[in-house]
Amino acid sequence: MLQRVILAIFLLSATAAAQTPVDGPTAYATRCAVCHGGDGNGSERAPGIVSALPRATDAQLGAIIRLGTEGGMPPQTMPDTELAVLIAHLRTMQAPAARRGRGPRQGTIRLSDGTQVEGLVIGESSFDINIRTDDGKTSRFIRQGTSETFSRASILPKKDWVDYDNGDNNRYLDATQINRDNVKNMTLRWMYPVLNHARLENTPVVVDGIMYVTGWNEAWALDAVTGRRIWNYGQDRSDGLISEAGRSANRGVALDDNHVYMVTDHAHLLALDRWTGERVWDTEMADYKQQYAATAAPLVVGDLVIAGIAGGEEGVRGFLDAYDAKTGKLAWRFWTIPTRDDPEAATWIGSALEHGCGATWLTGAYDASLDLLYWTVGNPCPDYDGSERLGDNLYTNSVLALRPTTGELVWYYQFTPHDTHDWDAQQPTVLVDTVWRGQQRKLMLQSSRNGMFYVLDRTDGKVLLAEKTFDRVNWNKGLDATGRPILTEGSEATPEGTIICPGAGGGSNWQSTAYNPQTKLFYVTLTEGCANYKSITQDFELGRRYFGGTAARAGDRARYVRAFNIETGEKVWDFPLRGTGRNGSGTLTTAGGLVFSGEEGGGFMALDAATGEKLWSVDLNQSWSASPMSYVVGGKQFVSIAGQVGFFTFGLPD
Ligand code: HEC
Repeated sequence: MLQRVILAIFLLSATAAAQTPVDGPTAYATRCAVCHGGDGNGSERAPGIVSALPRATDAQLGAIIRLGTEGGMPPQTMPDTELAVLIAHLRTMQAPAARRGRGPRQGTIRLSDGTQVEGLVIGESSFDINIRTDDGKTSRFIRQGTSETFSRASILPKKDWVDYDNGDNNRYLDATQINRDNVKNMTLRWMYPVLNHARLENTPVVVDGIMYVTGWNEAWALDAVTGRRIWNYGQDRSDGLISEAGRSANRGVALDDNHVYMVTDHAHLLALDRWTGERVWDTEMADYKQQYAATAAPLVVGDLVIAGIAGGEEGVRGFLDAYDAKTGKLAWRFWTIPTRDDPEAATWIGSALEHGCGATWLTGAYDASLDLLYWTVGNPCPDYDGSERLGDNLYTNSVLALRPTTGELVWYYQFTPHDTHDWDAQQPTVLVDTVWRGQQRKLMLQSSRNGMFYVLDRTDGKVLLAEKTFDRVNWNKGLDATGRPILTEGSEATPEGTIICPGAGGGSNWQSTAYNPQTKLFYVTLTEGCANYKSITQDFELGRRYFGGTAARAGDRARYVRAFNIETGEKVWDFPLRGTGRNGSGTLTTAGGLVFSGEEGGGFMALDAATGEKLWSVDLNQSWSASPMSYVVGGKQFVSIAGQVGFFTFGLPD
């Protein structure tokens, strides 16, 4: 009898299911919520799944759901159609956008002059409101006391941070409101939390009071004064990427009048509507199944969007691209690695050329006065084994000066020819116009991963100065007259291992460097250390990192924020970085006489730009992977940095 009842119920529910197809939210609510919680953040019965979702492919999720796990997840049978809508729903749960409270509502406010503003209420607090009007633009209004009357928040006076390194790449903001005397009062003004991003490497861009930031295949526009969200764009993360792009690295956006440009983990370039975040176009730069990836903030030059590629340990063939800003069509491509038929192939003797790498994963700089685009190129592959790529391996570890309209090469300088240390040249190129040794000059500064500090003449690429950033740098005995390094004996990786300084992470790495025209000093976070570089014969294999060796730390290692005199290359001051944490943060400098950077202990600090003395710090317990920036909105200066768990913005108390 009982069996028959059960059978009847079963038949009943089976027919019911067949008649009304279940939607994703219902499937989740009835089958999963009891254990994983209504929002996927877990309950006493089962752990949260939201943070695990981005790591699992649809097929893997399907298998977990259908087969269960040994740890207590029960198997569930369901039709394919239901499984599909359920998985689609799970994907929306992983996007922070979908989990953030109520959606916008329509609203009208009255301004003090009697006029009314009507639109979507994007954000609201007891003291202000953000409204998106019909033209798509979002403005901020300040409540007058506790009344229902508002006044329009002023954006002016303002100082924008226009792109990744801010224009000439100096990481300098000409603002003095926060300065040596008052920085001790600086406090956290707002924080925007971002979940499920293993690592934020973003530098915010701020234009007209709106901050644009990115994470892993996501972008946000935030009110730069309050941090409140204006829009959020997100798309699926890609499977199978073995580089940093597959672990959430994305460094930010470029802007023009109406668009925001960003790259995705799987090497697409996107244009988003600047006011709403809607996708306008989407161009595939290269096939991610070949391990092409992208992480760098693009750069807008005229009507073109310049975008680099990642995959510099995965055996890709590197290039730099320019796309039409309106259509997303490719305008030109500069291959950083030649084909066998190109003259540069003479600098690649052996079999490695086809997977020579030379990625372009750090944003370059544009000089309008010379109409030159500068972009740096990454290491050759395999990183540590040079035996199948004898020669200089052009254009790896170089800075390129290109004509931005055509991609034509005007000059290049190779910092480390035939590298076997992973000393890619992905360090910022800082453009400085100043009197240098008595002569007005157009300079380019770079603190290189190879342990040297360079000053180039950026009109022609001639080296004006190359000095060791620390005493132990032992791979060269200076440069010859042509600017080529003179190697010391045993400066290459070998099968037995050779101790060479600096270590594999550099000297410097990709973190921001800053130049302050007032102190005339150049600021950099630097590692003093060495490594045992060993080469191993490794055949290229798609989907496996193509290092061809190892670089194990050898001896002591010390880290500093260091200031250099750019005329002599001499160290002016040091601030020792101590602590057990990770500090992948660079430097920012301001006209207030300050240098900002992360601390190894998880804090964020301000140093005196002239002396290196610490003037302020706050313990945030973050692992830093991003560099700081600064901006002014409505006459108020802010300093901002991305941490592990979101975006932090500081300012003086009101
Ligand atoms: C009876 C409770 C229960 C129900 C119902 C349940 N789960 Fe689970 N689930 C678990 C437990 C317990 C684990 C942890 C298992 C382990 O560690 O092996 C888990 C693990 C998972 C994981 C892996 C998480 C990770 O960190 O790797 C996913 C994904 C998942 N569940 C999805 C679902 C979905 C989707 C549903 C609905 C179709 C569902 N679960 C229904 C108990 C449940």
